[in-house]
Amino acid sequence: MNLQFTDEQEMMRKMVRAFAEEQITPFIEEMEENETFPREIINKMSELGLMGIPIPEQYGGSEMDFTSYIIAIHELSKVSATVGVILSVHTSVGTNPILYFGTEEQKQKYVPQLATGKYLGAFGLTEPGAGSDAAGLRTTAVKEGDVYRLNGSKVFITNGGEADTYIVFASTDPSKGSKGISAFIVEKDTPGFHVGKKEKKMGLHGSNTTELVFFDALVPASNLLGQEGEGFKIAMSNLDYGRIGIAAQSLGIAEAALEAAVAYAKERKQFGRAIGQQQGLGFKLADMATKVEAAKLLTYRAASLKDNGIRCGHEASMAKLFASRTAVEVAIEAVQVFGGYGYTKEYPVERFFRDAKVCEIYEGTSEIQRLVISKQLLAD
Ligand code: CAA
Repeated sequence: MNLQFTDEQEMMRKMVRAFAEEQITPFIEEMEENETFPREIINKMSELGLMGIPIPEQYGGSEMDFTSYIIAIHELSKVSATVGVILSVHTSVGTNPILYFGTEEQKQKYVPQLATGKYLGAFGLTEPGAGSDAAGLRTTAVKEGDVYRLNGSKVFITNGGEADTYIVFASTDPSKGSKGISAFIVEKDTPGFHVGKKEKKMGLHGSNTTELVFFDALVPASNLLGQEGEGFKIAMSNLDYGRIGIAAQSLGIAEAALEAAVAYAKERKQFGRAIGQQQGLGFKLADMATKVEAAKLLTYRAASLKDNGIRCGHEASMAKLFASRTAVEVAIEAVQVFGGYGYTKEYPVERFFRDAKVCEIYEGTSEIQRLVISKQLLAD
């Protein structure tokens, strides 16, 4: 078993790390203070081919492996978890559903725009009354000739208001439950569709999270993705891969918090020596580092399974469950290492702490990950 990155993957890691440090770091304060969406950064990422890393060249992508894409989210999130989630949602659940389930015509029309970053993608599954119970969604889609009429609303949509296309899930046959759900590609200018309230969040300040409202929205029938009734499967199978992206985002936050804590523990002196030399602090750092390493192994193992064409929903859930908990725990401990300074905005650890929490919530809460893992363990 080879646990080393290939030369190509290592080049990706170095390139993204340098990009993040040089281009994203100067913009962090603007995102934090004014909740400004990092459009210029996304444009630069597009120029570097980062908006379509695992997408085939024939559809405008960089045609690299899934692991390289995970490396990019990991490295971006070490500097900015906001930029990490924008890329993850855009690719895993904003672009891949079209690549995997679209007709050739849909792929030709949308994937090159998304993979080159001309379009930004988003994913509309969650509703006010349907979060963990995604199959309980109430948005309806009724076919009328060559259009579907959509009515309902979505909440907590990452990239909402900034995206050009949304993969939206609606019921075409409410009597069939999850088997009556269908998926649609909805363009931002669709009549009857508008972006609602923008959430003010604990963390991820540069990332837009909004409501989507469909009031007699008319979506061309040609934008049905897959078959009628196939929507739930499309959502779930793409979330399998999406969750590896959120594990990588969590890993980036955890690693950044660990590195900051180690640097501070070497520099800060109390009782006549560096605080890292006090066993209480040294042991804390050791536990943090061990958890980060374990999260890294789970995350890259799930990515490697995906690269080898092996179904990995179970491993993706384990990676997300463990890496997101690690991000929260390591960020909390990093604040503790910094003491009073850690509680101020002078140091980044309070941001890591605020950004980490949502990783245990979106793309399936930790409770849902446990449900997915236990269902598979107990299956006949
Ligand atoms: N791949 C393919 N098909 C799948 C699947 C998967 N991973 N998981 C389930 N299915 C299929 C099942 O096989 C089943 O079909 P059959 O009956 O034909 O076998 C069908 O879907 C229904 O499956 P379940 O009975 O298991 O479905 P359920 O209603 O019990 O729900 C759940 C399962 C795991 C709880 C699911 O609802 C879930 O994942 N909930 C969490 C929702 C979520 O993650 N939301 C994230 C929103 S997006 C987001 O957060 C993005 C962002 O902004 C960052």
